[in-house]
Amino acid sequence: MISFQLSEEQIALKDMVRKFAEKEISPVAGKFDESSEFPREVITKAWELGIMNCAIPSKFGGLGLSVMDDVIINEELGAGCLGMGTSICVNNLALYPILFGGTDAQIEEFCGPFLKEPKLASFCLTEPGSGSDAGSLSTLAKEEGDHFVLNGSKMWITNAGHADLFTVFATVDKGLKTKGIICLAVPANLPGIHLGKHENKLGQRASDTRGITFESVKVPKKNLIGKIGEGFKIALKTLDHTRPSISAGAVGAARAAMEHSIKYAKERKQFNQPIASFQAIQFMLADMATSIEAGRLLCYQAAYHLDQGQYEKGNFASAHAKRFSADMAMDVATNAVQIFGGYGYTKEYPVEKIMRDVKLVQIYEGTSQIQRVVIARHLLNT
Ligand code: CAA
Repeated sequence: MISFQLSEEQIALKDMVRKFAEKEISPVAGKFDESSEFPREVITKAWELGIMNCAIPSKFGGLGLSVMDDVIINEELGAGCLGMGTSICVNNLALYPILFGGTDAQIEEFCGPFLKEPKLASFCLTEPGSGSDAGSLSTLAKEEGDHFVLNGSKMWITNAGHADLFTVFATVDKGLKTKGIICLAVPANLPGIHLGKHENKLGQRASDTRGITFESVKVPKKNLIGKIGEGFKIALKTLDHTRPSISAGAVGAARAAMEHSIKYAKERKQFNQPIASFQAIQFMLADMATSIEAGRLLCYQAAYHLDQGQYEKGNFASAHAKRFSADMAMDVATNAVQIFGGYGYTKEYPVEKIMRDVKLVQIYEGTSQIQRVVIARHLLNT
């Protein structure tokens, strides 16, 4: 038996986050898009609402929410503003490696503070020379006594300028390839950490994106998460668990684009009638609705497998959800701009922002092409 029914708690969660997004996010989304300022106040309110760091298990004082719950949260945040949604949800991306690979003591030490204050953390995998080929990273972690000495650079790191903790993937020996990769919990205030400039992005402009340089940063060995050589698998397992939520953000943004399009199509008159009366527009709206439903179901399916501990199926389903939802949201947003016509191409209306925002979902947390690589590897069993 397959149930498509959310639990009462999940319906309440969805309703709560939707109201939060409508009241606190949507009204200021345009302003933060324009200024590219960091929405610290909105993030603090999201923290107060309890929708950040929600994967931390109850045993450690967290809510211990499921991937499914996170998917529900992120669809609503994405409907409000994808950039702010990214800023809010990226703590999960940064903390999952510690939850997956850390000891109880490490989880308490590194994740615990996030439950007490609205702190931010960043996931530091990508480098200037290693994006899709994450396993080829070069940041070196050299063992010296009771420390690792970190040298190297990270790129496109979300929330980096505001983070208190970096989850850094580095290599002890590049010759070992992925088997040399480790994961370190790196407090952002350690000497030798230099932040790059705030990137002036096309979309998701409310999220802070920067490079980071590590110059002989001494990280205590007790901050090693998991064992030497386990870092790459910890990173990929993390991405499997966050891709459904990132995909749900795209579903939410697509839903918002469709809702704006429906409203506009009913108001806008051409040839003496609302453009919603034309089949050309109706079919565009119908296709949007079908695609959004399909995207949401793929997100739910991926979350279901991961919550059941079915990682193999979860990996496959996460790739489906991410590939489809990102590409789907780009199509929906582009068609929303089309329905708005010339007005849609201006900043007077919200759909061009959504189009710029969803473009990034085809790129970050694994491009649409990398998701196809993962899917094809499952199909071909390679
Ligand atoms: N979970 C756990 N382990 C996994 C795994 C998974 N999903 N996928 C593969 N592995 C294991 C393999 O079994 C293999 O293990 P063994 O060595 O024991 O055999 C090991 O990891 C290496 O696997 P591969 O040889 O398949 O690795 P690869 O180098 O070919 O790369 C890849 C695989 C899927 C392409 C991976 O590199 C990838 O996902 N790339 C995209 C990276 C990405 O998403 N980056 C985004 C960063 S986050 C971000 O965007 C920033 C932000 O702040 C939002």
